[in-house]
Amino acid sequence: MKIIIINGPNLNLLGKREPDVYGTASFEDYFNDLQKKYSKLQLEYFQSNIEGELIDKLHEVGFNYDGIVLNAAAYTHTSIGIADAVKAIETPVIEVHISNVYSREEFRHISYIAPNAKGIIIGFGLKGYELAIQSFY
Ligand code: DQA
Repeated sequence: MKIIIINGPNLNLLGKREPDVYGTASFEDYFNDLQKKYSKLQLEYFQSNIEGELIDKLHEVGFNYDGIVLNAAAYTHTSIGIADAVKAIETPVIEVHISNVYSREEFRHISYIAPNAKGIIIGFGLKGYELAIQSFY
């Protein structure tokens, strides 16, 4: 089973960025642990701060992977391009947010991705990525 985690802008700074909101663990450390725990899966990780690169990656994996775990970060609330890509591909997408976006600013309450996501996991910290992976089997 091939599953990819795709992280959007500023999530490369996890561990350093607003630790009170996003925690103190780096995503690389968390991902290494996930790969060990789910060694039977082919688990990949991609991060970009660039909208077009996220769209290109969705196109690349979206017809031959079994699952996509997508935290489009701030682009969730702004990007019709990423939303259209999620709609265009065949692989199911689980939308993940580390923080509870509904307890934050109102602009974070809008997701252009949600209508075409298979499911959404919000507010469980990094654990949300693992819950999304588990939802695929
Ligand atoms: C986020 C929430 C977004 O509103 C924010 O722009 C992020 C991270 C989260 O995982 O909680 O960068 O997607």
